[in-house]
Amino acid sequence: MIMQKKIVVTGGAGFIGSHVVRLFVNKYPNYQIINLDKLTYAGNLENLVDVQDKVNYQFAKLDITDRESIFNFFENEKPDAVIHLAAESHVDRSILNPIEFVMTNVMGTINLMDACRKIWSDSLQSNDHLFYHVSTDEVYGTLGESGKFTEHTSYDPHSPYSASKASSDHFVRAYFDTYKFPVKVSNCSNNFGTHHFPEKLIPLCINNIKNNKALPIYGKGENIRDWLWVEDHARAIDTIFHQGVVGETYNIGGNNEWKNIDLVKLLCEIMDEQLARPQGTSTQLITYITDRAGHDFRYAIDSSKLQNNLGWKPTDDFKNALSETIRWYLQNESWLNNVTSGNYQSYYEHQYKNK
Ligand code: NAD
Ligand code: TYD
Repeated sequence: MIMQKKIVVTGGAGFIGSHVVRLFVNKYPNYQIINLDKLTYAGNLENLVDVQDKVNYQFAKLDITDRESIFNFFENEKPDAVIHLAAESHVDRSILNPIEFVMTNVMGTINLMDACRKIWSDSLQSNDHLFYHVSTDEVYGTLGESGKFTEHTSYDPHSPYSASKASSDHFVRAYFDTYKFPVKVSNCSNNFGTHHFPEKLIPLCINNIKNNKALPIYGKGENIRDWLWVEDHARAIDTIFHQGVVGETYNIGGNNEWKNIDLVKLLCEIMDEQLARPQGTSTQLITYITDRAGHDFRYAIDSSKLQNNLGWKPTDDFKNALSETIRWYLQNESWLNNVTSGNYQSYYEHQYKNK
């Protein structure tokens, strides 16, 4: 029998957060899941239409940088655990506006931990509480042609985004060491899947191929990323949340490295097939542009700790997961249109505020 728990998932209206919320709401009817999200440009409640009416789901529109509101909310709700995904997450935006990343990713994380410390102060070491911090492999910096990031790789972030996530990871571990605050951390590679905001490489290219627009490739397209299906990431978070050791870090990755240009060519091939266009049509949209400043060359994750100790595995059929992802975007044209037009931002007013 699974215990009752009240869990706050921050950033639950975003890409990965919405998959985590859906998994937990459906799999654990005894858990009360509160999606705490500011609804920035990246937060979209349409991502959760299928669970929004479930009795074990709640939404709270809150900004994690607003310390007083966060403290009040935690005092009132007294959650047992937090799964923290809320963040500014796009490298290119961090280059343009780093301070937002410091405020949300660093200060916001500290606000949440302090609010938890206050309400959990009598039972910090009771195993009843957990602050699970979701982070990225980008904190480790960049790799050459060989090697992989392990949990022991030194931090060496290069973008304002990864520097802010690295800082938040350090604070989370410092709280464990200093206050015995119960934490777990995971660092994951690049995700792909449904409900992904079309500013990141894969959904951007899907949207542009669909609309016959240029596919912007930074530099020569030779940078390498290790792509993981978002549903595998949500399953890993579930596994670590329930079975991981408090105070430890787990790397999560797809064991699935692709050069950007090869991945974009594969997207073109699958989309030509699904759109019934002659093969070769979409590759003509590929356009090389000026490289991203500080562009990390290669990321690759060694996830053997998670695989060996906790029995998690990523899917072994990447092409099928990518094909199904593309099919979802093509079949959910209104989701894509609402996101690109900005209409999704009024969904909260329609569904919640006016009720
Ligand atoms: P996302 O940008 O799609 O979603 C972020 C969510 O956080 C949005 O719903 C947004 O409204 C919310 N948010 C932002 N600022 C907030 C604030 N001040 N207060 C409350 N809510 C706020 O991000 P994502 O891609 O789903 O990433 C989720 C987490 O996973 C992030 O912490 C990110 O660093 C990490 N991560 C992402 C990837 C990836 O490939 N996308 C890989 C590894 C780790
Ligand atoms: P992105 O999806 O932004 O994720 P991250 O920067 O966190 O890895 O980018 C993935 C890779 O694709 C990265 O090497 C940058 C590259 N890229 C492009 O070449 N063109 C683009 O328009 C974007 C958004 C990314």
